Amino acid sequence: MGLTRTAEEAEAFVRANTEVLTAPLVPEVRLHLASEVVPLWQATEEELADKGLPPPFWAFAWAGGQALARYLLDHPEVVRGKSVLDFAAGSGLQGIAAKLAGAASVVAVEIDPFACAACRLNAAENAVTLEVLEQDIIGAENQGWDVVLAGDVCYEGPMAERIDVWLHALAAKGTLVLVGDPGRTYLPKSGLERVIAYAVKTSRELEDTDVRNAVVWRVCP
Ligand SMILES: C[S@@+](CC[C@H](N)C(=O)[O-])C[C@H]1O[C@@H](n2cnc3c(N)ncnc32)[C@H](O)[C@@H]1O
Repeated sequence: MGLTRTAEEAEAFVRANTEVLTAPLVPEVRLHLASEVVPLWQATEEELADKGLPPPFWAFAWAGGQALARYLLDHPEVVRGKSVLDFAAGSGLQGIAAKLAGAASVVAVEIDPFACAACRLNAAENAVTLEVLEQDIIGAENQGWDVVLAGDVCYEGPMAERIDVWLHALAAKGTLVLVGDPGRTYLPKSGLERVIAYAVKTSRELEDTDVRNAVVWRVCP
C-alpha cells in the first residue's frame, strides 16, 4: 500500500486485520476490532512506520469512548434530533451510538485515513449513516454542531492542550461538549463537570489493567 491510498484500499486493510466484534460496555454496536492486540499493532506499525502514520487506534474501542457511547445509548435525549460531531472518532463508536440514539446527523472526524475507513465500515455494519471527514479540525469554528463528543483524547500532552482550548471555546458559545476519559495523564484538571462513570472491562495488553473507571465529563462553558 503506497503513501496515498484509496478509500477502498484502506477499507480492505481494515477488513483484513479485524474481526466484527462488540466492545464490553456497548454490546449493541458491532465494530471491526483487533481480536488480538499485539499482532495488528505490530503489523500496522511495520506497514506505517516509514510513513510517519500513527498506530491503529481505530482497531480498539477505547475505555473513554465506550463510556461516552454507553451514556448516549442510555440517555438518548442528550443527542436526539441533534447535530453531532464525533471528534477523533477512531472506530466511530461514539458517533454510531449517537445515531442509534436518534441524532439527526453525525460527522465523524479523524486525521487517520484508516480510522476514516473503519468509521465507514462500522457505520454500515450498524446500518447508520455518518458523514466521515479526514481532517485536523481542532480550532475550527462550530459548523452547526449542537453536541461535540471527544472519546479518549487526552493521551498526549500537546494534543490534549490544543483540544482543551478548542473544546472550551466551543462550550463557551453554547455547544454541549462531552469528553469520555478513563483517567488519562493529560485530562485537564479543571473546567470539567462529572456526568457519570462506568467500570469498563479492558485488556491488560492495551491498558495494563483488567478494568478502568471511565468518566463522562461535560466541558464547562
Ligand atoms: C485513543 S483514540 C480514541 C478513538 C475513539 N474516540 C474511541 O474512544 O475509541 C484517539 C484518536 O484520535 C485521533 N486523532 C488524534 N489527533 C486528532 C486530530 N487532530 N483530529 C482528529 N482526530 C485525531 C487518532 O487518530 C485516534 O484515532
